Amino acid sequence: MQQRDKLDSLTEYDFVLYYRHAVGFYLLHNPIGKDYTMSLQLGDVAPDFTAETTEGTINFHEWLGDGWGILFSHPADFTPVCTTELGAMANIKEEFDKRGVKVLAISVDPLESHEGWISDINETQNATVNYPMIADPDRQVADLYEMIHPNADNTLTVRSVFVIGPDKTIKLMLTYPASTGRNFDEILRVVDSLQLTAKHSLATPVNWRPGEDVIISPTVTDEEADERFPGYTAVKPYLRVIQQPAE
Ligand code: BEZ
Repeated sequence: MQQRDKLDSLTEYDFVLYYRHAVGFYLLHNPIGKDYTMSLQLGDVAPDFTAETTEGTINFHEWLGDGWGILFSHPADFTPVCTTELGAMANIKEEFDKRGVKVLAISVDPLESHEGWISDINETQNATVNYPMIADPDRQVADLYEMIHPNADNTLTVRSVFVIGPDKTIKLMLTYPASTGRNFDEILRVVDSLQLTAKHSLATPVNWRPGEDVIISPTVTDEEADERFPGYTAVKPYLRVIQQPAE
């Protein structure tokens, strides 16, 4: 076939496909700007880094070992909402310890600033900050985890939470604006759900609290469910409920 005939035989759909390929190639290999294909998503390996913290230098993956971890960011030191959040995290940290979850905070201020601020937190929040806080004045970690959302603020990090599993992949991401403090009881609740559902083919329903009934995952067939979760109740064929397993 002549070149001209070939061109004539291309349909509009062929051009759409070509265009999509070209855009995809550009985004993957774009040498100048941000790589838009790099956004972090659930299931991605949590980016590794080495950073200075209030408890010494930490290599993130090494520090996590083979356990769970939480990395959470704050807009800045010496700010009121952050002060309450860091105090609350110190007071609830024992619960994360019990679940084998390490806690790591990050703020884009230097180490000396963190140290002064921690003494304010301890003084005002009836707490003793008992977990490391990354000093990230160059925003190395903040950029790696996309914690700066320029349309919210060009320099300060938003309130991000990443829960990372023993396989180093991201299990949960939360993003709150600077003006809204987080609920760390909710993060603990999510950890309980994540740890339960990592072990069993189960899911947890709305507002679930540990000890309440759970849902058999839709990926489990009825035959498997009969064997693995005897005594379950099928409220609907797709909504099968069972007591939370003891272990
Ligand atoms: C705060 O942590 O209180 C805060 C930080 C930045 C903007 C608004 C509030």
